Amino acid sequence: MTVAEPLLAVRGLRTVFPTRRGLLAACDGVDLQLAAGEALGVVGESGSGKSVTFLSVLGLIRPPGRIEAGEILFEGRNLIRLPAAARRALRGRAMALAMQDSLSALNPALTIGTQIVETILAHGLARSRAAARDRAVELLHRVGIPSSDRRLNDYPHQFSGGMRQRAMIAIALAAEPKLLVADEPTTALDVTIRAQVLDLIDRLRRERGLAVALITHDLGVVAERCDRVMVMYAGQVVEEGPTAEVIASPRHPYTRSLLASLPSLEDPDRPIDAIPGQVPDLTRVDAGCRFRNRCPLAVELCMQPVELRALGANRLSRCIRAEEVA
Ligand SMILES: Nc1ncnc2c1ncn2[C@@H]1O[C@H](COP(=O)(O)OP(=O)(O)OP(=O)(O)O)[C@@H](O)[C@H]1O
Ligand code: SF4
Ligand SMILES: [Mg+2]
Repeated sequence: MTVAEPLLAVRGLRTVFPTRRGLLAACDGVDLQLAAGEALGVVGESGSGKSVTFLSVLGLIRPPGRIEAGEILFEGRNLIRLPAAARRALRGRAMALAMQDSLSALNPALTIGTQIVETILAHGLARSRAAARDRAVELLHRVGIPSSDRRLNDYPHQFSGGMRQRAMIAIALAAEPKLLVADEPTTALDVTIRAQVLDLIDRLRRERGLAVALITHDLGVVAERCDRVMVMYAGQVVEEGPTAEVIASPRHPYTRSLLASLPSLEDPDRPIDAIPGQVPDLTRVDAGCRFRNRCPLAVELCMQPVELRALGANRLSRCIRAEEVA
């Protein structure tokens, strides 16, 4: 791997699910890159393909769903072509997932300690159970769980929501991953705990060069925590660039609408789905721009295929009128 090569490079990823209504391409031609130590924010309306994109990267798409096309290069190796066993071995070690629902993601029948110890042992990262236990105590301590040696013997239901979230991150980190996919890790947490969990992820990124993909509905969080942001719409990346630049001057009408629909400080509870019109049916999409039925700038030409294209050195947009978006 050369120095310039990103940790993760996804090209032309297409993941499909057979449904009663026909084949549904949940992500369709997704390209993305992520370097060590970098945080990429992933935003977009519900159903835009954020989770499916990263579940594909993690090798967690269950049949009959399948990756139909594309490359997923992790440290230069194409994960799609790796045999299943090699891929499984790489998964926890190289990547991990902190999911929204920590109660159902943790095994209720096993203590938190056992779950961390098993992960450490499964990845061959300790020579004995005792050594794995010491490491588990240290991990729980690192994610900010007080009296971690004692709390190791607790079951998930004995932890608070915030502690479970941290325990999940401890389990994810037990495998010493290089990439952390955090899919809405903070929803349903109170504001303080949410900030603490995000601080923890930030610290690991700075100190250990962890690459982070942060999937969230909260653009405020992305603005605070992510160097770059990727905006998804109807299974495609429609815009990507440095977070501050994208927020200050979006180059896709969808991003602009998304920013305009953000809850304001005066009225934080206003729902986010304020963009008029509907997301297209993903079993019925054509080659044209998928945002055109909702786009104020739509013209005849938008019925032709629209590619994700570079605007200057570090911005990308999938809009033929990107330069006119203001
Ligand atoms: N196992 C599945 N079978 C059929 N369709 C699926 C499956 N998983 C996801 N989809 C569909 O793929 C599309 C993308 O889903 P995905 O979960 O990636 O959205 P998302 O952007 O993560 O949304 P949210 O913000 O609500 O989490 C949706 O239309 C969804 O219904
Ligand atoms: S390509 Fe056309 S329809 Fe699509 S976002 Fe741009 S202007 Fe709107
Ligand atoms: Mg999701």
